[in-house]
Amino acid sequence: MRRALWLAERGGGATSPNPMVGCILLGVGGEAIGEGWHARAGGPHAEAVALEAARAARRDPHGGTAVISLEPCAHHGRTPPCADALVEAGIARVVFSLGDPAAGSGGATRLREAGVEVVEGVLAEESRRLNEAWLSFEESGRPLVHLKVAHTLSGHVTRGAGKARWISGPAAQSAVHRLRRRHPAVLVGIGTALADDPLLTVRDWPPAGGPVDDPTRDDHPWPDVQPIRVVLDSGLRLPPESRLVGSTEEAGLLVLCGESAPAERREALVERGVEVDRIGSGESGLDLAAVLGELARRGITGLLVEPGPTLAAAFLRSGLTDRWTAFVAADADVAGDAVALYGPAGPLPPFDLEDVRTATHGRDVEISGRVET
Ligand SMILES: NC(=O)c1ccc[n+]([C@@H]2O[C@H](COP(=O)([O-])OP(=O)(O)OC[C@H]3O[C@@H](n4cnc5c(N)ncnc54)[C@H](OP(=O)(O)O)[C@@H]3O)[C@@H](O)[C@H]2O)c1
Repeated sequence: MRRALWLAERGGGATSPNPMVGCILLGVGGEAIGEGWHARAGGPHAEAVALEAARAARRDPHGGTAVISLEPCAHHGRTPPCADALVEAGIARVVFSLGDPAAGSGGATRLREAGVEVVEGVLAEESRRLNEAWLSFEESGRPLVHLKVAHTLSGHVTRGAGKARWISGPAAQSAVHRLRRRHPAVLVGIGTALADDPLLTVRDWPPAGGPVDDPTRDDHPWPDVQPIRVVLDSGLRLPPESRLVGSTEEAGLLVLCGESAPAERREALVERGVEVDRIGSGESGLDLAAVLGELARRGITGLLVEPGPTLAAAFLRSGLTDRWTAFVAADADVAGDAVALYGPAGPLPPFDLEDVRTATHGRDVEISGRVET
């Protein structure tokens, strides 16, 4: 099941609004005979890919076991029901991790009715974590909002003049690229776009030398999937010469602006392949609920926000923040003009993290949890 989850993650970003799913078929003797994952919305489901792989390898799944990270579907969507395909292939036993929360969608009952042995709940917590955005989207109808910041021991999000550009070391940066890869969209405020001229693409996952945490082996290349990049920019200050605008062939770019943003700036961006949409105003800039509504309309289940202090405070204040991840560098090497996360924009609104997890990446510590405001 760990491998099924590992395979599932390859679909990250591209399966939205569907979940990420991985599947491994075992022959009667318990040997792996085919595997696959759901690679993109509208494409074949993981079970169909694994069955096809077994067929291509001339291995007979009859009497074997299917290990799947999510309950196989029972409904006719864009693809035929996977529960039926497994029954037709003669699978004797299905082991899955997480039940499908959508009523009537899950295929466990259908499998049992057909005489297939069904085991559920294996590594369910890990599976829930992987598909947190999809589960949350199914329930709330809006993307899960995951704020990610990197700061020094002194609470600064930049180091200031004459210091290194980056807060985090290479291992933590790679972990951030993995986070981006798992989200269908990445969002920044115009303050960050102007100050840092970022690309916001996935470039360092898997890291050179191979993935770091595959428990078994890694023999499938990771497909090149890029999240859509979103900038909140009321007055369309984003320069047409910025790296974000210059990389629209590599990854999509959506700029959300205010109702009265100048039309000529909009045209200059649209000409360069940028999508620009107008959004109503809220308390501290663009209406964040409306921003999420627009992204939901596009089928985006999860949003990684890489905020400066202004946007971090605005998201926390809005009550629309679901997850917070901080990468804390083990130093306080900053100059006098460094930007503090808790400084000029005032203290952040009070919040707590639940279900906290920590990890170390070289000298950086990652702290992540669900936000309780
Ligand atoms: N270490 C880190 O994790 C990290 C991450 C990101 C940024 N940074 C640093 O943070 C600094 C930039 O931070 P910042 O606070 O100046 O800018 P920011 O948070 O990136 O962007 C804020 C701007 O976004 C626009 N905006 C639109 N709707 C908004 C809303 N509802 N709420 C809040 N803002 C909204 C506003 O500009 P308009 O009114 O013009 O739309 C606002 O001034 C840079 O120095 C950057 O290097 C650090």
